[in-house]
Amino acid sequence: MPTRREFLAGSAAMLALTQPGLALAADTTALPTLGAIGAARGLLVGCAVAARPLREDAAYRALIRQQARIVVAENAFKFGALRPSPTAYYFDDADALASFATENNMVLRGHNFVWHRQIPRWFAGYVTPANAEQVLVDHIEKVGGRYAGRIQSWDVVNEAVHPPDHLPHGLRNSPWQQVLGNDLQTGKPGAVPAYIEIAFRTARRVDPKALLTYNDYGIEGDDDAAAGKRRDVLALLRAMKERDIPLDALGVQSHVDARASFAAGPFSKGLGELIAGARKLGLKVMLTEMDVNDKHLPPPIPQRDAAVAATYATYLQTALADPAVIAVLTWGITDRYTWLNGEDSRADKLPERPLPFDASLQPKLAVPAMLAALRGAPTR
Ligand code: XIL
Repeated sequence: MPTRREFLAGSAAMLALTQPGLALAADTTALPTLGAIGAARGLLVGCAVAARPLREDAAYRALIRQQARIVVAENAFKFGALRPSPTAYYFDDADALASFATENNMVLRGHNFVWHRQIPRWFAGYVTPANAEQVLVDHIEKVGGRYAGRIQSWDVVNEAVHPPDHLPHGLRNSPWQQVLGNDLQTGKPGAVPAYIEIAFRTARRVDPKALLTYNDYGIEGDDDAAAGKRRDVLALLRAMKERDIPLDALGVQSHVDARASFAAGPFSKGLGELIAGARKLGLKVMLTEMDVNDKHLPPPIPQRDAAVAATYATYLQTALADPAVIAVLTWGITDRYTWLNGEDSRADKLPERPLPFDASLQPKLAVPAMLAALRGAPTR
């Protein structure tokens, strides 16, 4: 039972959150925040942070400080961002986020060591089957070593499964797969490509405290494509476990589509199956990149915001019911800087509204929806 004081603070806050004008008059330090309400349930709640607004936008920094207990770099820790040339490293943006996290007592995630995108241009002309292992190990030693002991979890490998590429085991035909795709022991195609095994073993050696995570998208739905990819991802994780490759967690990116029809029920059967499947392998689960795409919704903002909020609510209710889920991060915090306007924009070119706070940094309906889902979650 909440005390009278908590109850009053809670209802004042809810009013302030749903009627932003009132927030000006309220004592904002007493408002419940996503991070604090998550923490009360033993959940880490936070967001991805973009380097440029972190430097230039004080209101953005303040909002993240207020709401987030865990942060991850939207781009700054990626291979392409850190490696201007085979020998040079650029750490300014990554260090800035690491310092921001330390100064504000936030937990830091690492994203990512291995991905098929945002690889530097020099990669194609430089990395060969002969030197690929050295390049990969050097990168993880240098980057993982720099932040070792300060990272809660590392996305060691991102998006290695892509059934449309028609490789055995649903593996993605990525640049890393092309140079280090065979099984480390047999030298032939197998369930676990060498680059994945090497990356996880090296990451464990370099930063033994970080939870080592495999991260992917499009694995929580009920359609055939998602169900097939989910099976392939769980099979990959099982094969890794069978070989004693160090693996601690599954990252479920959670880039989802707003579908108001989910308002009443569980988000999908697939999401529950996915999380249970990971739990049975002894893994923790993190929702690592959540946002709710409104590109298929009609233009009126009230309609879009209601559907986005309902999708946050049902997705989080479904996921948080499983105690294996330990963290929730949104991919950004404000619509002002969402990546979706660049990469997956609406046909009518209206700005998308996929994040909890709008482009003026005011809370949308998604905020009370998320708070309610967090409050309803069993304590970890
Ligand atoms: C995205 C960033 O948000 C963009 O700024 C960048 O241009 C491309 O990458 N899955 C991931 C993230 O794992 O790293 C991606 O981030 C979004 C999809």
